[in-house]
Amino acid sequence: MQKKFSRRRFIKSTAMGAAASSVLMSAARVHANENNTLKVGLIGCGGRGRGALVNTLEADPNTELVAVGDAFRENAEAAVEGFTEQFEERIKVTPDRIFDGIECYKDIVPLCDIVLLCETPGFRPRSLRFAVESGKHVFCEKPVAADAAGIRSVMESAEIAKKNGTSLVSGLCWRYHPDVVEMVNRVKDGEIGNVVSGRLLYLTSQLWKRARREGDTEMKYQVRNWYNFAWLSGDFNVEQHVHTLDKALWVMNDVAPDTIFGLGARMQRIQQPANGDIYDSMAACFEYNNGISFYSYCRQQDNCWSKNEAIIAGSKGTAELLAGVIRDYNGNVVYQQQKGPYDMYLIEHQKMYEAIRNGNVINNGDYMAKATMMGIAARMACYSGARLSWADALASEESMAPTGYTWDDSPWSVPDDKGRYLVSVPGEGRVYHQVIRD
Ligand SMILES: NC(=O)c1ccc[n+]([C@@H]2O[C@H](COP(=O)([O-])OP(=O)(O)OC[C@H]3O[C@@H](n4cnc5c(N)ncnc54)[C@H](O)[C@@H]3O)[C@@H](O)[C@H]2O)c1
Repeated sequence: MQKKFSRRRFIKSTAMGAAASSVLMSAARVHANENNTLKVGLIGCGGRGRGALVNTLEADPNTELVAVGDAFRENAEAAVEGFTEQFEERIKVTPDRIFDGIECYKDIVPLCDIVLLCETPGFRPRSLRFAVESGKHVFCEKPVAADAAGIRSVMESAEIAKKNGTSLVSGLCWRYHPDVVEMVNRVKDGEIGNVVSGRLLYLTSQLWKRARREGDTEMKYQVRNWYNFAWLSGDFNVEQHVHTLDKALWVMNDVAPDTIFGLGARMQRIQQPANGDIYDSMAACFEYNNGISFYSYCRQQDNCWSKNEAIIAGSKGTAELLAGVIRDYNGNVVYQQQKGPYDMYLIEHQKMYEAIRNGNVINNGDYMAKATMMGIAARMACYSGARLSWADALASEESMAPTGYTWDDSPWSVPDDKGRYLVSVPGEGRVYHQVIRD
């Protein structure tokens, strides 16, 4: 997977013409000396973006922040203020390098060697494409898209990064957690026999909602309240459950399932317009033609049982990947992991800078696209009630794109005059959902 960076190979393999020559200069420069200062840009200054920037600055002492952007300027400004207090002279962001708007990535990317893509998932295929086409190293948060068209674009971007010899590191952080890596390796080494099936759980309470502000256009309001709109978050089974779906993909050596069916609904998310159009419970089955199936359950409902775990069943026993427990079918614990004090968020950044400094390449593009697509395919199956083949789901022309990328454009989800959003009802299509208002 890791390849030595070769400047000659880079020149030969990139076919990006004149635009790539500045890229080449940048890539060559950052690889030339392991003590070079790398310029970092942050896109999306929310909770994870701020966390990722701290991870980056702690992972590599020769990094500095040179540009930031957020859909909302106040978020970017607040982030810079906080970073400056913590990291002082490593924050080189002057006011003219604070950007805002949905397409602020276009201003940030040219200024950096590395970009951290931590904005709302629905926009990520566009910023990722721009970053890799500009020859930048990328840290790309999960999920990587909200629809199949976005996934196809991400797959192409991953290939461009490969050709350029730049790193593309995924925010699917469990792949960098040494305890979970060890458990997956035990499964792959046959400690539970042949893998037969798995239970993939992400059962938790409702997440946040953000209120409409005076003067918000519909687009602005939905971007502010992005989690609750499927075209922006992918729905919660994509945004959150992707972490668990990815563990099944990992165990299956990154081979995607053949068919998917599922059932889902929204039961608690009906009372307020701020609940947008997403579901709050989904169950899906990922089937492989060889008979292996993964049963996936995710829920965001209050006052219910909570659990985040991937339990892999084999011919000899089961492995609980997060608990670090292997059992036989008599109920005996045959392995109990001694857990280390690891910070997977920091480790993924350390690995990224090691790779860049050593002239190696990490490219997590394949699994980050497929894991996200598992969530999208499950959502498509749950919304429609259909059983889908992987190939058909991936080829779907259903687009959740807005009419454009300004605050005055129309989002995919449009309310009626009572403020109700179209919600998918299995077997019926998208219908205006009942909203009980004050
Ligand atoms: N790896 C993990 O464990 C993990 C944990 C939390 C969040 N995440 C992911 O990180 C991403 C951000 O989540 P968060 O919790 O920080 O959400 P958040 O709402 O706190 O932050 C997202 C920020 O992105 C901004 N934004 C929206 N559209 C933008 C655009 N087009 N350009 C620039 N900025 C834009 C928003 O205004 C907001 O400030 C999501 O994809 C989420 O799934 C990953």
